[in-house]
Amino acid sequence: MKKFIHDFVVSRNHHITHDYFAIYLKCPVPLPSILPGQFAEVLVSNSTTTYLRRPFSIYDVDYEKNELSLLIKKVGDGTAALSKLSEGDILNLVYPLGNSFSMPAGEKALLVGGGVGIAPMLLLAKLLHAKGYKPDVLIGGRTAGDILEPEKYKPYGEVFITTDDGSAGEKGMVTQHSLFAGKIKTYSAVYACGPDPMMKAVGRAAALHDIPCEISLENTMACGIGACLCCVVETVEGNKTTCMEGPVFDTRMLK
Ligand SMILES: Cc1cc2nc3c(=O)[nH]c(=O)nc-3n(C[C@H](O)[C@H](O)[C@H](O)COP(=O)(O)OP(=O)(O)OC[C@H]3O[C@@H](n4cnc5c(N)ncnc54)[C@H](O)[C@@H]3O)c2cc1C
Ligand code: FES
Repeated sequence: MKKFIHDFVVSRNHHITHDYFAIYLKCPVPLPSILPGQFAEVLVSNSTTTYLRRPFSIYDVDYEKNELSLLIKKVGDGTAALSKLSEGDILNLVYPLGNSFSMPAGEKALLVGGGVGIAPMLLLAKLLHAKGYKPDVLIGGRTAGDILEPEKYKPYGEVFITTDDGSAGEKGMVTQHSLFAGKIKTYSAVYACGPDPMMKAVGRAAALHDIPCEISLENTMACGIGACLCCVVETVEGNKTTCMEGPVFDTRMLK
């Protein structure tokens, strides 16, 4: 798939909470087709300490407005600098990078996102809904403040919430949600993105019922184009780069 490098114009920087923001970016040319799970490498030119581009999943795409958005958690200098951008600022992106989620064999799919790991699930929910599938979206977080924009998923599927402290939705981790006890067998595919232990737990739960599970890895990246090998992951077919052959992997392929 062809990759592009463009100077996007910030149309809005929406601060969801102190830690999370969604940045909306207008493309200077008509946007190419972007698949769920793909990401962008972002040049953080307003940070003097962030030399390498930073990878972020494409959160949403609005082809009518010719805009895409990124959902970001502030964790260090790069993301803190991005949180300070405002309308009219320029952001350079290399995109769309990586592979994408595959379509399920049956009509029901479970999409699981932990914290900011929910980001790639919005485009996936949209595409599944558009193709006639019935996605359920399970959003988990440590606390209510980590449940990000759940209303965005409601037009595309049923939304379920868990928090570790019980401040929103069911109390406990995503795999402790009643969906996993009751309904899990009804899904023909499970998709997950979030902290590694969460994705492993979701993968194990899906494997118990022989359900294919795809996860989007957020390994540390440098080049984003398969050259530096810093994002390599071990698979049953040998080492693969997360940036080129991922970030989406079938959990049965991972060692
Ligand atoms: C394919 C892909 C998609 C991603 N999508 C998103 C997204 O949609 N939204 C989002 O907020 N983040 C996403 N990330 C993670 C994001 O790239 C990092 O949080 C970001 O690069 C941190 O930059 P920084 O300069 O603020 O922090 P740094 O100063 O680089 O690091 C600050 C702290 O964050 C940790 N950190 C850095 N990168 C990661 C990472 N990948 N995972 C976990 N901890 C990390 C560091 O170890 C350090 O402790 C994605 C990563 C990948 C590989
Ligand atoms: S980030 Fe350089 S090879 Fe993947």
